[in-house]
Amino acid sequence: MRLLRLFLCFAVLLCPLFVFAQPAATVPSQIPGHDAVLLGTAWYPEQWPESRWDEDLRLMEAANIKVVRITEFAWSRMEPSEGHYDFEWLDRAIALAAKHHIVSVLGTPTATPPAWLTLKHPEILRVEQDGQRVTHGNRAHASAASVIYRDYCRKIAEQMAARYGKNPNVVGWQIDNEYGYALMSYDDETRGQFRQWLKAKYGTLDNLNARWTTAYWSQTYDDWNEIPIPVGGHNPGLMLEWKHFVTTTWTDYQRNQIDVLRARVEPRQFITGNFMGFFDGFDHYTITEPLTFAAWDDYVGSGHLDAVSNGLSHDLTRGFKRENFWVMETQPGMVNWSKLNNFLNKGEVRVMAWQAVAHGADEVGYWQWRSALNGQEEYHGTLVGADGTPVPLYEEVSQIGREFSAAQEALRGTSPVSDVALLYSYDSHWAIQSQKHTEKYDDIGLLKSYYGALRKLSQSVDVISAKAPLRSYKLVVAPSLNVLPKDVADHLLEYVHDGGHLVLGPRSGMKDEFNGLLPQRQPGYLKDALGGRVEQFYALEKNVPVSGTWGTGEASVWAEQLGSLASDTKVLLSYGKSNGWLDDQAAVVTRSYGKGRITYVAAVLDEKLMAAAAEWMLQDSGVRPVFGAVPEGVEVSRRRSAGKDIFVLINTSQEARSVTLPHKMKLLLGGKDGSIVALGPYGVEVLLDARP
Ligand code: GAL
Repeated sequence: MRLLRLFLCFAVLLCPLFVFAQPAATVPSQIPGHDAVLLGTAWYPEQWPESRWDEDLRLMEAANIKVVRITEFAWSRMEPSEGHYDFEWLDRAIALAAKHHIVSVLGTPTATPPAWLTLKHPEILRVEQDGQRVTHGNRAHASAASVIYRDYCRKIAEQMAARYGKNPNVVGWQIDNEYGYALMSYDDETRGQFRQWLKAKYGTLDNLNARWTTAYWSQTYDDWNEIPIPVGGHNPGLMLEWKHFVTTTWTDYQRNQIDVLRARVEPRQFITGNFMGFFDGFDHYTITEPLTFAAWDDYVGSGHLDAVSNGLSHDLTRGFKRENFWVMETQPGMVNWSKLNNFLNKGEVRVMAWQAVAHGADEVGYWQWRSALNGQEEYHGTLVGADGTPVPLYEEVSQIGREFSAAQEALRGTSPVSDVALLYSYDSHWAIQSQKHTEKYDDIGLLKSYYGALRKLSQSVDVISAKAPLRSYKLVVAPSLNVLPKDVADHLLEYVHDGGHLVLGPRSGMKDEFNGLLPQRQPGYLKDALGGRVEQFYALEKNVPVSGTWGTGEASVWAEQLGSLASDTKVLLSYGKSNGWLDDQAAVVTRSYGKGRITYVAAVLDEKLMAAAAEWMLQDSGVRPVFGAVPEGVEVSRRRSAGKDIFVLINTSQEARSVTLPHKMKLLLGGKDGSIVALGPYGVEVLLDARP
């Protein structure tokens, strides 16, 4: 007994050690038992005779493709008539893929309701803003708010979940496809739901009228049924709430299917959705919340890879859930829907694949394997041609597959980790978009200019919601945080108080959560901590000279006059001669607050000043580059986990570059170990730095 007690005491004492000895947290987008990083493709077995499948899968396997996404448009094949399901072909397709060591992700087919359904229930078809109902024959043609449609969606998802929820070769699910581009139906059912939703949120019309200041232009509502669906040019409060309602509608639409999946599928099967970078139809922080991880469809369209823009979109997607993600779809060379559907240069597809992984993607999937012989997308890029044999790009994709396999073990459990966060807010974006004041103001463009400058010097930036935890960051930058309600302002203040450095860009802290003006000057609730305020904002007709600590240059598009400065608020940049109002006024100020600092940048700065600003911000916040100097045109990224760092070097240029390593590392893609890595045009190398 005594011995037992002693043993128990010992066990309790050691318990924390056992807890710490657990392996590092797993990355949800890496599938246990499979390669940590996967190459994939969208495959449509329903479009081909079964006799062809084996050859397709053989060619995929030969290219090291490890995952296919299937069925997201196959409703009419899985349920040819109401209640009559045919899954046997799919059983065989999944099994045959598995024989070729390829696992399947199943898409629920709800972006394409079949003809029997829209014929029986034409009321599920969307009504456009002009009152016209869409016809059958395209996709995303159903109303996301339709109760009848959701019932059908639930039933098909339920059938699929019951059949494949325990299938060892099915690793996960994609709900719908791109969520109907957030399109809504302007019908009575949606209108009714919107009014109910407003009622639930505001409680009384008095409250709603007050928040939206409907006394303006005689908009006062006496009955919930008087409230319209906004179509543009409406009250800002109504417009923003419509966006919130669209977010709720699509999140509920998604939840309707998640609920039946979760109830039936094994927990190892993930659930995701394929999003579209900066597409702004709904709030992605909200809609991705119930998913296992986020995924996105990465298309260049016309032209070539803009590494900064594309890197930003990857980082945005990673920030939705602050987790690694999948690139569910990307272009095999070209698309068919752009103004000029040029082909990416030889080597550029590989650069894109590695850039995705470098920024936290654990799968890169090509859309699509082979074009259907008829259908809307005959000209789109593929990996095999109309004859079913490989196109020239197939070899480059095979190389990516071989390289993913070579590096996957090193990449296991790793994610990008950054000291710098950029804040993005859908509310602020929508608020600015609906009242731009100057058509030249581009809040995403401004975000990109901050990102480009900060990413270049720090080599790792997160893009996250303004409501996300901030404690781990040394520097937090909010380029256009227009909507800044009290709770978010308090959250930011706490961060600064505890030692963080917060940088605000123009138009920050102007509005409340109802898209109304705050009854303070900008930056609203942060004004006192900043020890200064915006006296007046100006949409610029022409550039304004600015100079100060960061050098000399120009402000364009937007400039705010900062004033009412506290004695300890420092001016970093001032405007030169301009419209008279701005002359000699403060353009950038900074102040210590608590253990941290707040800086306000009141204008859109030119590239040179932005670079100097980024250098100052990073230095002041103690942020160091994650790797060290790299030549122009080379992007370096880091993924890390306990005990190892993985660096991905990508030469985005078409000229050779060489990179000096800060110390010895192991080259994973076949380059020669040494102190210099030679990168050819569009060259890529992956480095393992296994130092503790
Ligand atoms: C995506 C879509 C795919 C395919 C692709 C073509 O947006 O999800 O189904 O249409 O575009 O580039």
